[in-house]
Amino acid sequence: MTNTTAMRNQSNFPPGFIWGSATAAAQIEGGAREDGKEDSVWDAFAAKPGNVRNGDTPAVAVDHYHRMPQDVALMKELGLDSYRFSTSWARVRPGGRELNPKGLDFYSRLVDELLEAGILPWLTLYHWDLPQALEEQGGWTNRDTACRFVEYAQDVYAALGDRVRHWTTFNEPFCSSLLGYGSGVHAPGRQDPRAAIAAVHHQHLAHGMATAELRGLGAENIGITLNLSNSIPKDPADPVDLEAARLFDSLQNRIYLDPILRGAYPEDSLRDLEPYGLHEVILPGDMEIIGAPIDFLGVNHYHDDQISGHPDTSGEDGHGGGGVLPKASPWIGAEHITFPSRGLPRTGMNWEVNPDGLRKLLVRLGKEYPQLPPLYITENGAAYDDEVTEDGAVHDTERTSFILEHIQAVGEAIVEGADVRGYFVWSLLDNFEWSWGYDKRFGIIHVDYETQERIIKDSGLAYARYAAEARRQS
Ligand code: NOJ
Repeated sequence: MTNTTAMRNQSNFPPGFIWGSATAAAQIEGGAREDGKEDSVWDAFAAKPGNVRNGDTPAVAVDHYHRMPQDVALMKELGLDSYRFSTSWARVRPGGRELNPKGLDFYSRLVDELLEAGILPWLTLYHWDLPQALEEQGGWTNRDTACRFVEYAQDVYAALGDRVRHWTTFNEPFCSSLLGYGSGVHAPGRQDPRAAIAAVHHQHLAHGMATAELRGLGAENIGITLNLSNSIPKDPADPVDLEAARLFDSLQNRIYLDPILRGAYPEDSLRDLEPYGLHEVILPGDMEIIGAPIDFLGVNHYHDDQISGHPDTSGEDGHGGGGVLPKASPWIGAEHITFPSRGLPRTGMNWEVNPDGLRKLLVRLGKEYPQLPPLYITENGAAYDDEVTEDGAVHDTERTSFILEHIQAVGEAIVEGADVRGYFVWSLLDNFEWSWGYDKRFGIIHVDYETQERIIKDSGLAYARYAAEARRQS
């Protein structure tokens, strides 16, 4: 599709639609030991050789901790309506138990800077950086961590609640539970299916408890961000593929959606996960806390997954290993699942590109969850190998098409009835891409990791133009 085609349907976006961009603390801030910050699980995980590509660490990242005003100025230049960022628990409460006012003050300055620039702050409390001190007490396998999370949420709300209106409890709990404690490709790098299932449940509980607490304190817009993907059976007539797709859908989507939106785990997931102790960690009253109403659901979407229950003979994994370097399968009880390629173009993460999947996903959510609150696309974007050319620019045509075509798909979903109220491109800046280190660039702003120089890529300029036109047409 050409950019002109994409321009045509900008009127699909309702007035007030939010055009934003997103980052996460551990991926951009650096300042790992500054002003009282201590290690998060990601600092500790990255310090162990073999965990992160090239031995990269989040210690410096893109030095946002020192360059925040300059980065906000770039957001303003792009005309963003909103900026989605996360607060670092290990900065705000370094040992997990006591407040570090200096750490919290960074976010207060960030919020002031954003408001001054006319940009709406969209805050996420947990984007994977648990204080290492809490991990040493069991991390998310320990139910008590949910209580520590509520204290942290209270501190952040006390400092920022007068200026921040949008509160997200968790970002992609799938990654920080199943990938962190199950496959071990994310921090803290454990490979224990029972621990992973306990982490899933305790993060849900922490979400529910913090939601109740924030609401009690006066917050009006509280939500959670999930990474969702369509689970497509390779051969819909083959019961083996169908069963594999069901299991994948349960682990990737429904064990998050159902507890939060319906207050119950799906029946099939309860059966699948009994051997891994799910029943043992659910205590009376938990599901009511977890299922309390939320005001919005954040959807992160990058790719679909074609699923088979047969060995993959295509020689090409269409899933790219979930974007991480797989050590052990995160698909608890489903190690036989394969991700055969559909032969579609791929991004630099080896993820297949299929914008229409986003439309389908949004429409499906509306159909399957009557309790669905308004949706925001809190992440969507692509990594490609970028090059700064002689003209000092980054002509990232593939990323530009990826973003505009996905936005187009969001517009089509809106026409079909999906209540989507905003889109945040991932990511504002090139950054620390977890187990991939600095190898994968998702930014609409290029960062030279030697000099920390920033250059708005062509995709950033195109996104800004698209959003301006959409605002004009709405
Ligand atoms: C989702 C995560 O929230 C974000 O931290 C990550 O960088 C992107 N996916 C890309 O993998």
